[in-house]
Amino acid sequence: MSTSTLPGAFRLDGARALVTGASRGIGRACALALAAAGADVALTARSGAALHGAAKEAEEHGVRAVALAADLAGPGAPSDVVDRAAAALGGLDVVLHNAGVLPTAADGSPVLVPFQHSTQEDWEYVIALNLNVTAELCRAAHPHLAASGRASLILMSSASGVMGTPLLDAYAATKAAQISLARSLGVGWAREGIRVNAVCPGWITTDMTGFASGTEAFSNWLMAHVPQGRWGSPEDVAGAVLFLASPASALVTAQALVLDGGLSTPDGGLAAIPKPPSPFAA
Ligand SMILES: NC(=O)c1ccc[n+]([C@@H]2O[C@H](COP(=O)([O-])OP(=O)(O)OC[C@H]3O[C@@H](n4cnc5c(N)ncnc54)[C@H](OP(=O)(O)O)[C@@H]3O)[C@@H](O)[C@H]2O)c1
Repeated sequence: MSTSTLPGAFRLDGARALVTGASRGIGRACALALAAAGADVALTARSGAALHGAAKEAEEHGVRAVALAADLAGPGAPSDVVDRAAAALGGLDVVLHNAGVLPTAADGSPVLVPFQHSTQEDWEYVIALNLNVTAELCRAAHPHLAASGRASLILMSSASGVMGTPLLDAYAATKAAQISLARSLGVGWAREGIRVNAVCPGWITTDMTGFASGTEAFSNWLMAHVPQGRWGSPEDVAGAVLFLASPASALVTAQALVLDGGLSTPDGGLAAIPKPPSPFAA
């Protein structure tokens, strides 16, 4: 690849990509970015109507887009979705596994409690969806990606996977495990032409973080801990995903790419960023 052709290395013309959690938020933005770069896309999530809307928007880029509604928590669902996507697109070159959840109460709000007050049920819910689904999906994707010759598997982890995250301990544990899996598979599958990387966003404005971005005091306090001082957008994440999916990152494998505005890098207080009082103070 010469430097003059390098910008073209961010293109994905003719590539076949599966994106999970593509109905909204980060997954939707990533699916649309892959389509804009020329990839045919299979989109999956539970909400059929939202998926079809996203697929229609992807098609405006002149690519094929297939909506596959599925609950990944169902028995065998991750394998089934991978095989259906590969059948629909004629193979898979890119898999972005992005679907993930916080521990969730019956009213849909996130459960933010100190670990000692959390329940085993909450732990198992998050482990099942964020980790067990990831393992099954990666295993199912392997034969399709091995057949590609230019494959990229991307796991949507989190900055919480590289730092201590009290109140979201189970979630953070699954995100750290995804980084570990990306490193192991990236090394283990390298000779089969499969690159595997994790993406670790910080605070991104989506439905998942509405509990924090929608409350001014909480949002201001959180952003005081982000050196860049702002929320990220789903499109900020899509840029990193596009890089990792494309030949522009041909030598990048087994890595965790952190995009958190500096949140996970301690400054020892020397950046002198003023911090408002903690909303967690009694
Ligand atoms: N937002 C952030 O600040 C942030 C930061 C770091 C990492 N992340 C990670 O980024 C990923 C996407 O997060 P987001 O903020 O975009 O969240 P979101 O807005 O809540 O979207 C989650 C996506 O996952 C899908 N999903 C959830 N449960 C599912 C299930 N059982 N079966 C199939 N699909 C399911 C949802 O679709 P349906 O509801 O239609 O099924 C939706 O498309 C997650 O892995 C999250 O951990 C987010």
